[in-house]
Amino acid sequence: MKKRKIIVTVGTRPEAVKMAPLVKQLQREEWADCRVLATAQHRGMLDQVLRLFEIKADIDLDIMQPNQSLPMLTSRLMVRLDEVLAAEQPDVLLAQGDTTTVLTAALASFYRRVPVGHVEAGLRTGDLSNPFPEEMNRVVASRLARWHFAPTETAKRNLLAEGIDAASVFVTGNTVIDALLDVAERCDGAVPFNGDSRLILVTSHRRENFGEAFQNILRALKTIADNNQDVHVLYPVHPNPNVREAAYAHLDKHPRITLCEPLDYLPFVAAMKRAYLILTDSGGVQEEAPALGKPVLVLRHETERPEAVAQEVVKLVGTDYADIVSNTQRLLDDPAEYRRMARGVSPYGDGHASGRIVGVLRDHFQV
Ligand code: UD1
Ligand code: UDP
Repeated sequence: MKKRKIIVTVGTRPEAVKMAPLVKQLQREEWADCRVLATAQHRGMLDQVLRLFEIKADIDLDIMQPNQSLPMLTSRLMVRLDEVLAAEQPDVLLAQGDTTTVLTAALASFYRRVPVGHVEAGLRTGDLSNPFPEEMNRVVASRLARWHFAPTETAKRNLLAEGIDAASVFVTGNTVIDALLDVAERCDGAVPFNGDSRLILVTSHRRENFGEAFQNILRALKTIADNNQDVHVLYPVHPNPNVREAAYAHLDKHPRITLCEPLDYLPFVAAMKRAYLILTDSGGVQEEAPALGKPVLVLRHETERPEAVAQEVVKLVGTDYADIVSNTQRLLDDPAEYRRMARGVSPYGDGHASGRIVGVLRDHFQV
């Protein structure tokens, strides 16, 4: 049987988390020659996820530079990806999400006429500047892709509204839930926190929040920790220097705030399970936390993940200081409100998304 060569690209931490189950699934398929291409847009955070899932990159572009600019990252990736595609001549390239890795992988594939499968297709806020630059990245990826693996019906509707052919759109669920369920089963004992306090887990890294919005978030975290003796804030800080410097400048050495390096995925899932509530601007965490029954306050004004908001287990609180403080305090003080948001629903997947994606490719190649 002629094997089909499938390149799976991963650039950043969330792409690795969400592609890991798909790589594992493809590696079990006799007809597929799965090649993992790490752009390494992230270095340390990518490597820790690949290690956890025991995935070795077949090709590694090692592209990350400290505090990289978007134009420089984009142009360097375009050149290197084109070289890889010319040498490898894959039958399919799979890319996940909305990072610069995805934008460039889709465009480089278009130039080389390699068909692209877009995993987590169809997420939209409708505002090209929010999130920045991700909304543009995913709109362009959709325009270029041959297969659109939409996590939800809403995502599918977004694609159809843009004129994407319905025959190329498949609602599969999000592969993040495949990864989460796998790791949630084996992470007990890995919680990076010992005390009895109610744990507030925080992550924040969005470029559109840099500057004043991020200062507001940090001030709000300090007020929440100041006002609640029975609360502890655990904040694994994203290594982007724009985030790191501000976070350590404002919050270091508070007795009820722990700043730490980004956690490996296994202890991070353990921390989500241990958390009382979660404050985040992350996309992936908005998908994972509801499945673990944890209330999420989103530190953004818009989200491309409206399903959990509609089910009232995730709430958009924006980036105003007073809004963050009051919404957090309400969840700490009002048990009924807390219970409503801690119901445990999983609108983004059932843990079988990777199998569905592989099934679509298998049908396409009639193998
Ligand atoms: C990127 C994605 C964003 C995604 C996020 C996940 C783009 C434009 N942005 O944002 O969509 O939500 O990843 O975290 O694609 N760094 C390290 N070590 C690492 C990773 C990053 O030191 O392991 C530092 C480097 O200085 C790097 C900087 O963070 O230059 C920014 O990384 P980059 O991938 O450009 O952007 P993120 O803000 O991480
Ligand atoms: N995550 C992690 N360690 C951390 C913070 C987050 O492993 O310290 C995981 C999280 O569970 C999710 C993914 O990283 O699966 C989300 O990545 P990130 O927030 O960086 O990107 P986004 O999802 O916003 O694109």
